Amino acid sequence: MHVYFVRTNRIHIKDMANESKRNTSFTSKIGLIMAAAGSAVGLGNIWKFPYIAGENGGGAFLIVYLICVALFGLPLLMTEFFIGKRSGKSAFGAFRELSGNGRWQWLSWLCMLTAMLIMGFYFIVTGWCFNYLFEAFRNTFDGLGTEALAEHFAAVASNTPRMIGFSVLPVVLTAAVLWFDVNAGIERLSKILMPLLLLMMLLMAGRVLMLDGSNVGMRFFFQTDFSKITPRVIMEAMGQCFFSLSIGMGALITYGSYMPKNQNITATSIQVITLDTLVAVLAGVIIFPAVFAFGFDPAEGPQLVFVVLPAILEQMSFSWFSSVLFFTLLCIAALTSTISLMEVMVAFICEASAAVRKPKSGHPGRPLNRHQSVLLTSAMTIVLIVLCVLSMTGKTEWLTIMGHNLFDCFDEITSCVMMPLGALGMSVFVGWCLPNETLKGPARGTRRTKRWFGKIYLAVLRWVVPVAIMIIFLNSLGII
Ligand code: PHE
Repeated sequence: MHVYFVRTNRIHIKDMANESKRNTSFTSKIGLIMAAAGSAVGLGNIWKFPYIAGENGGGAFLIVYLICVALFGLPLLMTEFFIGKRSGKSAFGAFRELSGNGRWQWLSWLCMLTAMLIMGFYFIVTGWCFNYLFEAFRNTFDGLGTEALAEHFAAVASNTPRMIGFSVLPVVLTAAVLWFDVNAGIERLSKILMPLLLLMMLLMAGRVLMLDGSNVGMRFFFQTDFSKITPRVIMEAMGQCFFSLSIGMGALITYGSYMPKNQNITATSIQVITLDTLVAVLAGVIIFPAVFAFGFDPAEGPQLVFVVLPAILEQMSFSWFSSVLFFTLLCIAALTSTISLMEVMVAFICEASAAVRKPKSGHPGRPLNRHQSVLLTSAMTIVLIVLCVLSMTGKTEWLTIMGHNLFDCFDEITSCVMMPLGALGMSVFVGWCLPNETLKGPARGTRRTKRWFGKIYLAVLRWVVPVAIMIIFLNSLGII
């Protein structure tokens, strides 16, 4: 039997039968917060947010993005943590465990597929970061002007063997962390490095704001021209919100399943969202003033930060040291995200293989253990990376979809279609389809405040989130 009640600003879930079925769990509350924040804060904030904002009108994008974070971020983050904590399982088993039937299994397959496609392009961007770290060590950017930096990036990104090598390196590092299981790897890394990254970014923002002409960039980023808010901008902002917060693809379900019993879901979610949004806005404050001060184009696309960042770092005092430190931190921020991405697939493969039955006898087959699953996931990821790199460097005509290379397709389809679809599924699942007592849970409370919070959460999850996602979809398709 399960009893749910709401406390002032939190949903406290007391499971009388069995709490977590996981045998590994985070040793401290802060460990889980840092790991979830480590998943959220990554290249989505520092690489993707500035380039998408730059392509979609700066200030116009920022305001829509912030609305999306408020509207979707909190309820969906809470929902994913809730699903994981309550079921004690990763995305594969969680939906079946909670619903008691297999009707929602498609959602776990969607999560796994999304994780796989994201890994296909995310590791390549992580590879760019490692390449830039390597070059920062060798002081390659010293004295390069605006044009030379752009040419340099183009040369790096079109070098097939180099790109494959640098993208496979983070796969190996991520696999190594997962090989030694969740606690040891993720917790230790995130605790130390996240604050250091924030500090470094603050220093860079301070330097950039001293550049001549930086105010043009600040205006571009903070002044809202409402006429620039189009259905496309809204769609991109929603996708970016899901991508940046790692929601809609099960990563946080897995982390929820490792949550200590007494951890507060609401407070954890608010902390993760605040940190993630802060880093994204800070990235905008660093990139846009520099874009205008140095004469770059804000709508440059995915390469934007890779041409602007070295130019900024060259202006910092102790430029060699600053560059090496910044790219090291960026690589680690990327790795804490890839760890959570790969974990989705690793846990999925372990649990899915345990569920497979032998065709004749109907007995369970031998499930893959964690190590085998890590190896299999890494191998599949490397195949995807190679295909993506080949399609980007123009080596293979047939590896494009409607004229777009696989990198762009994976980037676009995961953020703008698959993650919103996953989020839609999860909100309908928890909001409408869970057994009765679970459904009433967050809305039932003894004190008035508790009751209100639970009711608002449920109403938003049942109505606002699914309806808003559907409207944005139909609107961007031109149907409404
Ligand atoms: N949120 C991560 C980032 O901002 C990317 C990510 C997406 C990680 C989905 C895990 C799952 O970089």
